[in-house]
Amino acid sequence: MSPGRHLVVGATGQVGGALLRHLGERGIPALGTGFRRAAEISVDLGDPAALHALLESVRPDVVLLTAAFTHVDGCERNPALSRRVNFEGPAAVSAWAAAHGAQVVFYSTDYVFDGRNGPYSEDDPVHPLSRYGADKRLAEEAVLALGARGLVLRTAWVYSWETAPQNFMQRLALNLAAGETARVPDDQWGNPTYAPDLARATLDLLAAGASGLIHAAGPRTMTRAAFARLIAETFGLPADRVIGVSTQSLGQTAPRPLQAGMKVERLRGLLGWVPCPPESVLPDLARAHPLA
Ligand SMILES: NC(=O)c1ccc[n+]([C@@H]2O[C@H](COP(=O)([O-])OP(=O)(O)OC[C@H]3O[C@@H](n4cnc5c(N)ncnc54)[C@H](OP(=O)(O)O)[C@@H]3O)[C@@H](O)[C@H]2O)c1
Repeated sequence: MSPGRHLVVGATGQVGGALLRHLGERGIPALGTGFRRAAEISVDLGDPAALHALLESVRPDVVLLTAAFTHVDGCERNPALSRRVNFEGPAAVSAWAAAHGAQVVFYSTDYVFDGRNGPYSEDDPVHPLSRYGADKRLAEEAVLALGARGLVLRTAWVYSWETAPQNFMQRLALNLAAGETARVPDDQWGNPTYAPDLARATLDLLAAGASGLIHAAGPRTMTRAAFARLIAETFGLPADRVIGVSTQSLGQTAPRPLQAGMKVERLRGLLGWVPCPPESVLPDLARAHPLA
């Protein structure tokens, strides 16, 4: 059966961009939207009328919802915007999908947990600490209500080499290469996840007919500071310029889950593989983009 028309909402981002490339490589018809950055189509996930008009004109069989208001402190400061973009937009897409028999893939986060006793499995209870985490959880529920047509992929610490670098890995490497030091939390745990691997896993899961809630992340849980030192060492940059600090000392607006991270056994069981750990990915990135 043909995989149908795919719509990637958030194709100017890391995950959406990787998805669009992988869809193209597999010969699957796909369209991608942007918001502030230029793309084939532009849409604001927080504007229900524009969203509805887009869905009615494209009539996708599968909507891949990578777009989000991802600035965690920004969400805390502007909860109305977070609610519109991170919950109401995905809920509206889910309602449209329910009425039209379409599938929805939604990207969520381990910020749905409180970080008291991670790493977490899909069966562990959620308890978001921040507005971002709470709105992502509400959106998860809306997508999961689609049953066999809803797929929620929780991911974390996504990285790749971007043209306009926004991700932690690339910014850290570029800042160290520019001679800066980096104060990085040594009490936050998570799973570094390579965006192209996440895109590949998504398409393999869709091809396998997967639905429901799946942790889709790299297999290793580490501290942010350990990830930063690994990045520095792999790129041949001075790891002693990574200063481990407590999350509290950073004075951020939104609380962060500390002992977070996710178990990825469900994903491994479904696919037979999981995204590569950073020690396998970073050496190739460092060779392709030398900074030292
Ligand atoms: N990155 C991580 O470490 C991480 C961790 C856990 C979960 N996630 C989740 O994974 C998903 C993908 O993350 P990512 O790393 O690809 O994010 P990203 O690189 O920051 O991309 C975000 C995308 O959302 C779009 N966007 C932002 N506000 C929008 C709005 N109001 N309406 C429509 N589009 C909007 C952006 O468009 P423009 O750039 O054109 O404005 C961009 O395409 C997100 O749902 C995020 O919550 C990410």
